[in-house]
Amino acid sequence: MSTELVYDINRINHMPYEIKQAVLEGYMPESSAHELIESNDNRLIKKVVELIERKKKYEKNILTTAKFAIRKSEAMKEKLSNLKNLSKEGLILSTIWDIGKRENYAGDSSFYGNAPTQVVEQIILRLTKENDLVLDPMVGSGTTIDVCKMFNRRFIGYDLNPTRSDIIKNDSRFIPLQNDSVDFVFFHPPYLNMVKYSKQKQDLSNESFENFLISIEKVLKESKRVIKNNKYITILVGDLIKNGKFIPISRKIANIAESIGLEDCGQAIKITSNSVSQIRRGKIIYAELAKTNNLKVNHDYVMFWKKD
Ligand SMILES: C[S@@+](CC[C@H](N)C(=O)[O-])C[C@H]1O[C@@H](n2cnc3c(N)ncnc32)[C@H](O)[C@@H]1O
Repeated sequence: MSTELVYDINRINHMPYEIKQAVLEGYMPESSAHELIESNDNRLIKKVVELIERKKKYEKNILTTAKFAIRKSEAMKEKLSNLKNLSKEGLILSTIWDIGKRENYAGDSSFYGNAPTQVVEQIILRLTKENDLVLDPMVGSGTTIDVCKMFNRRFIGYDLNPTRSDIIKNDSRFIPLQNDSVDFVFFHPPYLNMVKYSKQKQDLSNESFENFLISIEKVLKESKRVIKNNKYITILVGDLIKNGKFIPISRKIANIAESIGLEDCGQAIKITSNSVSQIRRGKIIYAELAKTNNLKVNHDYVMFWKKD
């Protein structure tokens, strides 16, 4: 046994209260306490008492923090294991979707404005189950259809300009489906008139920005009508710089979705990392700034909405 633990009770009882407590609680050897008292240095005594108090408080905090950390890690166990499983399934658990080189089993990469396969995969895996009925009202080269086939989802793919036999010709400002009949809607509208898909007047890529937005509202209202409650409508959309002017397509579409009563469930940024403009990025950014006073747009948004 340490000699420091054999107290001289008589002498200890005569110590100032805080010093006595410090000795009895093991924060200070008895010999140091006597030395301190005999120094008769009030400033030193005050400082030692202060340090001991701080140490006690710190130890108490450490204990509380450790107890809290254990409780929290227990509560997080299930959440962390769910996140780990989602990540194993290939989901990007972030709002930045930097997809890199595209997979080529879905859609047609030579189709102007086609959606990267992995983006559609992320959306379908995240928000649908096997056998769910997925609707893409402007399916273009069929990327959504091919992803649905790959992951056993049923699908309806409409387009004003069908590119293959499993796409149904339809002007999707009117959707020929019953109310509350599909489990999920994904669409990827034209980037206004950046690419003209046809000369038809119903084609959104032929419209002024004002009429384009009116048509988008119709597609969104129809999507809301045909989707079941508590299910998601997801839009892949990008902004545009045209004749030196920034055209905020994404913000306007978000305003419309909100105005028709869809619940905003957030958005991710899809980075275009291997486009031609990205590869020549330095030159392009300089050229865009010089020409238009705007930066090059190198990202799209994946917006999530819900019918409740
Ligand atoms: C950006 S592309 C979609 C690309 C598609 N996500 C893919 O991966 O291939 C937009 C599509 O909207 C279609 N479209 C334009 N106006 C339409 C309308 N009123 N109804 C249905 N589709 C329309 C165009 O024909 C075009 O295929």
